[in-house]
Amino acid sequence: MKHIIIPILLGIALLSCKQQEINIIPAPIQMIQEQGTFKLSKSTKIIVDKSDSAAIKVAKYFQEMLKVKGIELELSDVVNSSATSRYIYFTMTGVRDSLGSEGYELSVSRNGIIIRANSGSGYFYAIQTLRQLMPVDFENADSKYSKISIPNVRIVDKPKFAWRGLNLDCCRHFMTKDFVKRYIDLLAYHKMNILHWHLTEDQGWRIEIKKYPKLTEIGAWRQLTDGTNYGGYYTQDDIREVVAYAAERYVNVVPEIEMPGHSVAALAAYPQFSCTGKPLKVETSWGVFKDIYCAGNDSTYMFLQDVLTEVVDLFPFPYIHIGGDEAPKYRWENCPKCQHQLKKQKLHDYEQLQRYFISRIAEFLETKERKIIGWDEILDGGRPHNATVQAWRGIDRAEASVAVGASVIVSPTSHCYFDYPVEVTNLQKVYSFNPIPDGVAAEQQELIIGGECNMWSERAPQETVDSKLFPRILAISEVLWTSPVERNYEQFLKRVRTHYGRLTSLGVNYGFEQSAVTINSQLSEDFKSITVSIERGQENLEIYYTTDGTEPTTKSTKYTKPFSVTKSTSINAAAFIGDSRVGEVFSRELVLSKSTGKSIELGFTPAQKYMGGGLQALADGRKGTGSYNDGIWQAVQGSDMTAVLDLGETQAVKSVSVGFFQSNPSWIFVPRQVEFLASTDGNSYNVIATIDSQVKPENEGMFRHDFSADVNGVTCRYIKMVAHSIGNCPDWHPAAGSPSWLFADEIVVE
Ligand code: ACM
Ligand code: ZN
Repeated sequence: MKHIIIPILLGIALLSCKQQEINIIPAPIQMIQEQGTFKLSKSTKIIVDKSDSAAIKVAKYFQEMLKVKGIELELSDVVNSSATSRYIYFTMTGVRDSLGSEGYELSVSRNGIIIRANSGSGYFYAIQTLRQLMPVDFENADSKYSKISIPNVRIVDKPKFAWRGLNLDCCRHFMTKDFVKRYIDLLAYHKMNILHWHLTEDQGWRIEIKKYPKLTEIGAWRQLTDGTNYGGYYTQDDIREVVAYAAERYVNVVPEIEMPGHSVAALAAYPQFSCTGKPLKVETSWGVFKDIYCAGNDSTYMFLQDVLTEVVDLFPFPYIHIGGDEAPKYRWENCPKCQHQLKKQKLHDYEQLQRYFISRIAEFLETKERKIIGWDEILDGGRPHNATVQAWRGIDRAEASVAVGASVIVSPTSHCYFDYPVEVTNLQKVYSFNPIPDGVAAEQQELIIGGECNMWSERAPQETVDSKLFPRILAISEVLWTSPVERNYEQFLKRVRTHYGRLTSLGVNYGFEQSAVTINSQLSEDFKSITVSIERGQENLEIYYTTDGTEPTTKSTKYTKPFSVTKSTSINAAAFIGDSRVGEVFSRELVLSKSTGKSIELGFTPAQKYMGGGLQALADGRKGTGSYNDGIWQAVQGSDMTAVLDLGETQAVKSVSVGFFQSNPSWIFVPRQVEFLASTDGNSYNVIATIDSQVKPENEGMFRHDFSADVNGVTCRYIKMVAHSIGNCPDWHPAAGSPSWLFADEIVVE
């Protein structure tokens, strides 16, 4: 009978043998799935070569990982286990050189799993892949498994970039040691290998320094408005524990010790190292502050060298991040010691003095066999000694770094700042990031060592960090592991949605992929109407909207398809699940006026980051919203704004107006005055309105201010708008002396 039954059973087995779906993030470079699975069970043996310490280390990590799930595997060496039929075998023999130092080959078949790599990190990444080949509910931390089936695959995999990092700001909000360790696990799980640990800031110094105890006694605490002390710090033992934990997981920890700016907490503890020597408090607000380390004071350098000596003892990785960003030069310009230093070193300006400062620190660190990394401002006065650059202000800064021969870590605000809301930087945008700027020639690309995502924590206390980093960090992990030609967003998104199950099991409270509501508008070709379409961020959301300025409820109009407006209209839209609103109300003010869609010539170059949608943004029919980085506002730093509108034909004009934004902590001020001029020929202009600002630079909050005037039916074809900036941030401002920003939108002519 047997010989009849077997083929039937086999037939059933084949019929039901739908291939197990594979979802690995970051995606492996090469993967072939084959029929069948490997059944990992308690009798599976892990085999390592006795002399392969890397394999033993990773195998033990793997053993621990399985143990909490109820599977205890025996570790043995090759010789003793030649008879074992089911095995997981770690080996360095037969490895292709092309795998590099972090690559691996993973081959899963019915009888066993073979992991080949040149290094511990290669083995480790193979294990992370194996972990994601296990069932989605594997991560649930109970011990229900006796057997796990793993699909048969052959994978050859290695990262595109060597530097795959997360910058975690534990200063603006303190994050516990256990939270930091949890993030090391999450980084490792996604094959990221750098924890850039932001440890010193204006608002808190977070690393114990034995020689300067006041750094943490005073500098780690700030007084909140309710009188309580907020803060915390890591002892040197904590730091050693974190660094060792990271090393077990092939994550390198790069400490960031900020200088010369972002140093108010240190100066609150030791004011003698500032230019004025006057007492300071640990900062309680967010921004950029003018009190920085004095560059003319030798004792400042001695202090920093002492601090760094202790830092170097704690962090074995060859790189130390010294910050270098956002250091206003106001104090230096007004400090006799800094002025003297400038002369003594024969420097031309205070940017060069910053270069001198950073180079002096870099040379000191070199004696400790450490290299420095600094934010891209460190190039402003010329590249400091042997510095690696972290480009953040734009991808162009990566090009500028390469141009001076500096290695660069790319992490522009446009794609890599996960403190920005998903409304500004959504998952798809992050996934579209290419760390290699277009302008970098092939032979220079090796200077681009990788990238990082940044988790600044001004508005992100620890409990909110997951929802900001996830799912966007998944996109960064893949961007840094693969190359652009290997990426496909739709396919990635599918994997992400399966991955959510794993993240949930890991306790990750992930956030949205994109804004719950996105309002798009398209001006018609005759500029007489605007088509509005509204996208929902998730399929389970319903959108309701109003056009009368009221808050939408589920009684308002339900959005089903695009609609048109033929006059200026305010749209308020919100997402709902059932009767509950999800997130905020999204507003868009659409404008249809004589100027809408008309051609504009700008007398300034808008900042790449704040183009507002292009060179015609000031008359595109959309008004900037309550958020200056909504992609609608157009901005320039350190200059006035002039724009000439061509109405196409001479006509009578009743009124003119233009809106500006203010948020003074972000150096954004409305202009002190706006002028409108009119012309019929585009050559000779008459002033038709001069409007002084009704807003003081000191006015707090984030708001728009409109400059409007009736112009009594003046006839003209061209209208010129001139906005006079307040100039540098005023003396009272934390960033006094730094060039301020103008944010404009939109020019309306009736
Ligand atoms: C930075 O965001 N200031 C580097
Ligand atoms: Zn000074």
